[in-house]
Amino acid sequence: MVAMKQGLDGKTALVTGASSGIGRAIAHRLVAAGCQLVLSGRNKERLQALADELDGAAIVAPQDLSQPSEIASSLDLVQSKYGMLDILVLSAGLFSNNEFAEEDIEVSQRMIDVNLTSVVQLTHAALPLLKRQERSEILAIGSIAADVGIIK
Ligand SMILES: NC(=O)c1ccc[n+]([C@@H]2O[C@H](COP(=O)([O-])OP(=O)(O)OC[C@H]3O[C@@H](n4cnc5c(N)ncnc54)[C@H](OP(=O)(O)O)[C@@H]3O)[C@@H](O)[C@H]2O)c1
Repeated sequence: MVAMKQGLDGKTALVTGASSGIGRAIAHRLVAAGCQLVLSGRNKERLQALADELDGAAIVAPQDLSQPSEIASSLDLVQSKYGMLDILVLSAGLFSNNEFAEEDIEVSQRMIDVNLTSVVQLTHAALPLLKRQERSEILAIGSIAADVGIIK
């Protein structure tokens, strides 16, 4: 983030998972560095509370990323409000600590839908806007849980 701070003034970023945790923290850091943001997440109240804290530097884009029909809505807002996108931050995600065999299969499917499928879909949809800029960035938050299995 320290290296990213250079030259961020006036950039536009879309941050998924902005209503909580890592996405929320990144949103604060990007605004401190001079960015204007679109904040994505399902919880409209938490997004609006963050936008209020960010004092006019962000607008909210409530969306459920597990629903393919909702993927484009945040990008539509980026386009209509700012007309450009420099940075895509992919921080929406969910994690289950349960053993796979014991886990509800719908929860496992939702993890695939949000943690993987929506990342591919949103990145694909954002690329035309990102490629219009001389320089643009995609920051995708991963987890060691994607690489290493946990034996219980
Ligand atoms: N925290 C850690 O130590 C850690 C370590 C390694 C990796 N990670 C990974 O980093 C990512 C973020 O972690 P975190 O700790 O910041 O988690 P978090 O505090 O639980 O935040 C998750 C964010 O994802 C959003 N989200 C979840 N389902 C969504 C959906 N269907 N549609 C749209 N947004 C959705 C949530 O917003 P709404 O509830 O408003 O929808 C929330 O803003 C996750 O992928 C996690 O696996 C975290």
